[in-house]
Amino acid sequence: MDYRKPVVFGENWSPSRYKVLPYFAVEKALLTRPETRRILDLGCAAGWNMSRFRQYGRCPVGLDVAPERVRLAAVHGPVMVASGRQIPLADGLFDVIYIQHVLHHIGDVGQALREVYRCLKPGGCLFLVETVEDNPLIRWGRRLHPRWLGDDITARFDFAGLQRLLAAAGFQVVQAQQYSVLFWLWEVLPDQIPFMEKLTPLFVAGERLLARAGRKYSAHCFLVAQKAMSAVGLANSEQ
Ligand SMILES: C[S@@+](CC[C@H](N)C(=O)[O-])C[C@H]1O[C@@H](n2cnc3c(N)ncnc32)[C@H](O)[C@@H]1O
Repeated sequence: MDYRKPVVFGENWSPSRYKVLPYFAVEKALLTRPETRRILDLGCAAGWNMSRFRQYGRCPVGLDVAPERVRLAAVHGPVMVASGRQIPLADGLFDVIYIQHVLHHIGDVGQALREVYRCLKPGGCLFLVETVEDNPLIRWGRRLHPRWLGDDITARFDFAGLQRLLAAAGFQVVQAQQYSVLFWLWEVLPDQIPFMEKLTPLFVAGERLLARAGRKYSAHCFLVAQKAMSAVGLANSEQ
């Protein structure tokens, strides 16, 4: 991802490639529900998801700790510079909080998830896309090089550990799926070698095979976690 200019959906990643990602249909269903009106993109960087959610007719609020990225994301909608560990917003504001590849940079994941819980409406959902250390390449790669695109990796978890952290923050995980390292390569490679785009159907078939056979080595996951309808203030009272 190039953080020197605003990120615009379709410019650096082809929409067709994006649409075969396993979480696309689930994300679309959640974000296009009539009751999904207020969305927070936590860790918005230069606005990739803010730009992407336009296809759903949605305009999320962006939040990130990096002021230079937030300035770029501002072309896509309202933004703020803040930490996800201490969100300077009122309780129960959002229908959906979307966090993609941010938690492993956030430090105290438990604290961040409690903040997310607090800022969701009762019945609201966290949509989480993460890299998990079930895959040995990711696990050892991060030990050797604990940075990604200039950001330190400050939190480590595997798929099961992430679900435990969500439960500890008060969430009920309603959907959780791992997918393979193949998609991770495929997200990166066609940007470097455009011809790879043509191999999309092959990648999708390979991904499905790998996901069935080697789930415990999967490097990516997505989760939908819900705040209970009757759980106003639960996260705060448990701190
Ligand atoms: C790998 S980028 C992901 C950006 C975007 N969500 C995406 O998927 O393209 C991680 C982002 O998390 C942000 N970040 C790191 N720590 C944070 C924190 N405590 N609060 C909010 N954002 C944070 C970084 O500044 C960076 O922009």
